[in-house]
Order: sequence, then structure tokens, then C-alpha cells
Amino acid sequence: MPLVKQEYVSDIWKDGIFENKVIFCTGGAGTICSAQVRAMVHLGANACIIGRNVEKTEKMAKDIATARQGAKVLGFGSVDVRSIESLQTAVEKCVKELGGIDFVIAGAAGNFLASINQLSTNAFKSVMDIDVLGSYNTVKATLPHLVTSAGKHKCDGKTASPTGTGGRIIFVSATFHYTAMPLQTHVSVAKAGIDALSNNLALEFGPRGVTSNVIAPGPIAGTEGMDRLSKTDDLANSIKCIPLGRWGTVKEISDATVFLFSDAGNYVNGHALVVDGAAWRTQTPN
Ligand code: HXC
Repeated sequence: MPLVKQEYVSDIWKDGIFENKVIFCTGGAGTICSAQVRAMVHLGANACIIGRNVEKTEKMAKDIATARQGAKVLGFGSVDVRSIESLQTAVEKCVKELGGIDFVIAGAAGNFLASINQLSTNAFKSVMDIDVLGSYNTVKATLPHLVTSAGKHKCDGKTASPTGTGGRIIFVSATFHYTAMPLQTHVSVAKAGIDALSNNLALEFGPRGVTSNVIAPGPIAGTEGMDRLSKTDDLANSIKCIPLGRWGTVKEISDATVFLFSDAGNYVNGHALVVDGAAWRTQTPN
């Protein structure tokens, strides 16, 4: 069932702030990333989402397009972020059909619960390849377009660009690696790598006008990750320890995304924006 607006983005944002902009998103058929893209489309952007499952990705693209009349949303299934060729083809098609890429969300991820003992070498490698190599490939494939977009929208140093922002990337990470998380070694290691990738990109490409940031969601209700991972007592009981006393919503991740991609986020670069109600701080042994 299509989401109604109040479920995926707040009313506080001005309509049309991302008009004539294009967002490219990996893992775009997932619950969190689809809400992020939906919010951007609602606020004026056109979009291209990619995923591994053709039916799921194409269906999600059609659904996201209903967020705004006249929106163009492409859904490319059969794209595995572990293959740079497959990503480059998707990027080329996106640029040809939508005219460029201004924003990127690197959201494709793999996850399952397994202790270090249960993890095979290939299981560990699979998550590292999807998360770390996949994010790197996403950067490689989209960076020339982000640099072009950043060049078009460069600020004059005093005021925000009158034509809006461009040349920005957000990686969807996590908070497990800030401390440690049982049964999530593979994910923790991968997300630490993603954070490092974002920081280095911020440093190297900031001078070209490209900004790179991380959003680290905490436990977000209604996501595939939480549905599967919260089956453990640890996670189900974790709600009692969250300082804000509840799980987050996808809308709260979308709002953080809109902030970082909007003019309001112009000077934010190399940052990890944790959206978790301070949940991870309760993971710290004290
Ligand atoms: C142990 C497992 C396993 C499990 C798979 N493997 N599931 N090992 N426990 N539950 C092992 C397999 O046995 C195999 O190793 C290796 O992993 C690769 O598995 P494949 O199925 O061949 O690989 P692939 O098709 O590429 O699948 C990748 C995957 C899969 C990561 C393993 O789970 C996946 O794609 N999931 C969908 C994406 C996803 O999970 N999205 C949600 C992200 S949520 P062997 O040795 O047998 O060859 C998220 C939120 C985090 O990240 C935050 C939550 C709070």
C-alpha cells in the first residue's frame, strides 16, 4: 500500500526544493532507502533506484513516483553493487534518461545474525563485498557526475547557491561498530569501512564541492532489518534502554536525508549523523 506523505517526510520542508535534481540510490527498494528517495521525489527530484530483485525494484519505483505528479522514477533491478560494470551501466542509463546525478544514497547492504563461530569466510566476505566494495563501486560509478553537479551549484562562500545544492552523497551506515554488537561482527566491520570511505571522500573531494556524509540509523520500526534482527531477545528488549523510549521511524531518517541534501546542510561534510534516540550510547559499557 502506498505510504501517505506524513509517513515518509515532515511538513516543514518547502515543496520544490529539489526541483530539476536527480537522486541515484542503491538498495532503493528497501524500507529505509525507498522512504529517503520518496521524500526527495516529493520535494521535486527525479530518481533512479537500483536493486538486485527486478520485480521488487520496478514495483517500488512505480510506487515512489506517486509521491509527486509528473515525477520520473526509474527502477533498475538485476544490478549487483558488487559488480562495477553493472553499476556503471545503471549510472549511464540514469544520466541518459534523467540528465545527470546530483545526489547519491549508497544504501545497499547485506545482513543476517551470526556469531563469529557460525560465520563462514564466504559469509563474512559476502557482507563486506555488498557493503564496503558495493559502496566503493557506487562512489566510483557516480563521482564524475557528482563533481559536475557540484561545479554547477558551487556556493560563493557567502550565500547558499540560488539554484540549490548538488554533488552530495550519503552512506547508510549503522552504530554497531561504535561499541560492538553480538552476532553482528560482519556488519560492524563493514559499516566501519563505510564510515572511513565517507570521511576520505569528504576530505579528497570537498575541494571539488562534493560533500560526503553518513546517516547511522538506530532501530527503525517496520524495516526488514529490524523485523529479522529483532527476533533475538537482546534487540526486542533493547527498546527499554533507548533514551527516547521507542524505535525510530523511516520518516525520521528521511528528514535527516533532506536536511543533509538541502541548503540547510551546505557546510556539513565528513559527518556521521546518528538518528537513533541515543540508543547506541546505552551500548557503551559503563
Ligand atoms: C550464517 C549465512 C547466513 C546466516 C547467508 N549466509 N545467510 N551464514 N548465517 N543467516 C552465508 C551463506 O551460507 C554463504 O556462505 C554466504 O553467506 C553467502 O550467501 P549467499 O546467499 O550465497 O549470498 P548472497 O545471495 O549474495 O546473499 C547475501 C546475504 C543475504 C547478505 C547473505 O542475506 C542478503 O542479500 N540479504 C538481503 C539484503 C539484506 O539483508 N538487507 C537488509 C539489510 S538491513 P557459504 O559459506 O555457505 O558459501 C541492515 C540494517 C542493519 O543492514 C541495522 C539493523 C538495526
